[in-house]
Amino acid sequence: MATELNGVSEQKTEKKKTIFSGVQPSGNLTIGNYLGAIKNWTVLQKEYNCIYCVVDMHAITVRQVPADLRRRTYETLALYIAAGLDPKENILFVQSHVPAHAVLSWDLGCFTMFGELSRMTQFKDKSRKNADNINAGLFTYPVLMAADILLYQTDLVPVGIDQRQHLELARDIAIRFNNIYSPTFTVPEAYIPETGMKIMSLAEPTKKMSKSDSNANASVGLLDSRDQIIAKFKRAVTDSGSEVRYGEGKDGINNLINIYCCFTGKTRSETEREFEGKGYGEFKMAVGETVADGLSSLREEYGKLICDKQYLDQIMASGAEKASAIARKTISKVHRKIGYVSV
Ligand code: TRP
Repeated sequence: MATELNGVSEQKTEKKKTIFSGVQPSGNLTIGNYLGAIKNWTVLQKEYNCIYCVVDMHAITVRQVPADLRRRTYETLALYIAAGLDPKENILFVQSHVPAHAVLSWDLGCFTMFGELSRMTQFKDKSRKNADNINAGLFTYPVLMAADILLYQTDLVPVGIDQRQHLELARDIAIRFNNIYSPTFTVPEAYIPETGMKIMSLAEPTKKMSKSDSNANASVGLLDSRDQIIAKFKRAVTDSGSEVRYGEGKDGINNLINIYCCFTGKTRSETEREFEGKGYGEFKMAVGETVADGLSSLREEYGKLICDKQYLDQIMASGAEKASAIARKTISKVHRKIGYVSV
């Protein structure tokens, strides 16, 4: 970490590490995405070279309504910015705008084994859920994700636990390629943020909150109205106890305490003390109001951005240009090593 005194010189000599992450535009972003990922990304923007992608090509592994996909792509980008990611400090772009992702994905697919992809738990899960559409893209999804990461010589990838297996595969592919030829790719590592928080479903608190959950009460959308948010917290599933206390087996109340702490900056024990002698009902109401208040400025900012398509188009275009410039270097290196003729 750079100190105040020698910060300037250190930052000049020490190369900033690259962070890459992506979110699919396949559902409405939830407070889980926000607290677990995007909110933490905003603190990284000065210290790292950050590249954040809206991964629309991953989204089509499941059938999408074209107009919805297009709308959500804009929405996801607007939310990145509204949540505090500065488009000048970070590269924000849309995956399909940089064809190098598809190109590298093909190349890397030839260094990925059928057996490896067959073992991916997300593939098995999604095949079960989409039994009528087990397409090849669903199978090679992790190769495209490896391409996303390796294209930018990424050092660190902030991902949730559900994506660790894919990241592990990306590492294996990078190491394999580097061993067959010569060092070509930076081998990425998972980035585990200090303040990262896994937010659980409000309806089934042993399950992760998911933007594609079919139960609308399970997740809180970043753009839900104040009334919707409060109603969802009122309905949140908790155990039969009544004391607001963090503890084993109390997944529902633990989750609510975590959410409350994230939004207020209070510790668990401060929260327990604050609600001492008060019941679950009162606590749920307080959490709902706190979340609604906490999201109000984000919602306001988002409201402005989403009306300004021209601005968003401009961010997308300049993001794609910056991303392409980096990607081009990796592609040319890879193609030279593989033995493609360059003209
Ligand atoms: N598969 C990730 C998810 O669903 C999204 C993703 C695509 C991603 N490419 C990535 C995340 C590269 C990190 C890095 O959450």
